[in-house]
Amino acid sequence: MTTFEIHPETAADVPALNALSATAFGPGRFARSAYRVREGVAPAAELSLTGWQDGRIRGGVRFTAIRIGDRRGGLLLGPLVVDPSVAGQGCGKALLLEGIARARDAGFAFVLLVGDMPYYGRFGFRPAVPGTIRLPGPVDPARLLVLELAEGSLDGVSGAVSAYAD
Ligand SMILES: CC(C)(COP(=O)(O)OP(=O)(O)OC[C@H]1O[C@@H](n2cnc3c(N)ncnc32)[C@H](O)[C@@H]1OP(=O)(O)O)[C@@H](O)C(=O)NCCC(=O)NCCS
Repeated sequence: MTTFEIHPETAADVPALNALSATAFGPGRFARSAYRVREGVAPAAELSLTGWQDGRIRGGVRFTAIRIGDRRGGLLLGPLVVDPSVAGQGCGKALLLEGIARARDAGFAFVLLVGDMPYYGRFGFRPAVPGTIRLPGPVDPARLLVLELAEGSLDGVSGAVSAYAD
């Protein structure tokens, strides 16, 4: 597997990351339910990471602090995006593992995302309990995934997801 260097995101990285997101998610990305949660709230700066190989940016991940109902301490993961030219070489995995480790170290209790269970399941994500978590728009329940960083942190959780600046 190729090695990717993981660095904190800087302002200079933003155009390249935006271009990767535009390619991966297309113009419809702004209407996605996860995007609407994040809208207007800055991502957690210490958890915005970029993946590099051969001196070029190859991918990035961001997390935004959220509450579900009145349960704070969560993160919404996204976007995670990797340059298709290096797909399957471990950049996504490296970004996810580093981001999740930093999130745990920073004291966050759980991570929520909208994505493919066949990909995220290998990192410990599981489908949320159906009908318990509401986003500001439709989401396929099979794609609404959660990961507890602190055991039991999602016990009994329910309600609307909203972002807050930490
Ligand atoms: C999903 C994505 C981030 C994966 O990044 P990556 O660097 O290619 O992934 P990795 O190298 O860490 O992992 C590759 C493995 O995941 C699998 N995989 C990749 N995308 C997958 C998906 N959507 N569903 C299931 N498995 C997937 C690959 O088949 C490969 O499997 P293997 O290890 O058994 O060979 C990348 O393909 C991407 O940017 N996709 C478009 C944007 C997107 O869907 N983002 C996630 C939703 S927010």
